[in-house]
Amino acid sequence: MKASIFIATSLDGFIARQDGALDWLPADGGEPHGYDEFIATVDALVIGRKTFETVLAFDTWPYGSKPVVVLSTRPAALRAPAGAVCEVMTGTPHEIVARLSARGMKHLYVDGGVTIRGFLEAGLIQRLTITRIPVLLGNGIPLFGPLSHDVRLNHVATRSFPSGMVQSEYVIVA
Ligand SMILES: NC(=O)c1ccc[n+]([C@@H]2O[C@H](COP(=O)([O-])OP(=O)(O)OC[C@H]3O[C@@H](n4cnc5c(N)ncnc54)[C@H](OP(=O)(O)O)[C@@H]3O)[C@@H](O)[C@H]2O)c1
Repeated sequence: MKASIFIATSLDGFIARQDGALDWLPADGGEPHGYDEFIATVDALVIGRKTFETVLAFDTWPYGSKPVVVLSTRPAALRAPAGAVCEVMTGTPHEIVARLSARGMKHLYVDGGVTIRGFLEAGLIQRLTITRIPVLLGNGIPLFGPLSHDVRLNHVATRSFPSGMVQSEYVIVA
């Protein structure tokens, strides 16, 4: 099983304002920067409950028919929107990966700050693609946080875009 991160951050490393707002992201996602190509390679998304609640407020469910696993310690409280292929799970990152692997899934897209940090700490992420938006927010919800050990990465590529977005791709050293 491989798990990847594909996420946008402010230049100072935040994925949302403290209240969860994403108004600082470019309208319509900015110029094409590989998201469609990336999501086509994943078998399922694994997202945190707070990210789920954010996307529920969008006008349309953004994941189409791609399976989405929402992590929550209170699974009974969540309801999937009509038409979404969506289920709620609770468990450690290792348990989640084992369950999805047993279904034949081979590539997961892990999203949401707390969720990503849990999978990183557990050594379950192989690839990170981080698109930095040229804005400083000062505070907000961070992408990274404390770790019990260093995580070493190999740099794969960095691309810049006319809007000022800078995207860096890394693989984690096994
Ligand atoms: N900039 C971007 O590209 C981007 C991408 C994704 C998200 N975001 C933003 O990031 C914010 C959400 O990030 P976040 O760090 O606050 O939270 P998050 O990771 O989306 O959700 C955290 C919640 O997920 C559940 N969870 C995580 N791991 C779990 C596990 N192993 N077992 C059971 N439950 C688990 C818990 O839910 P319970 O509390 O229900 O137990 C936890 O409180 C939103 O504002 C979203 O819009 C931005």
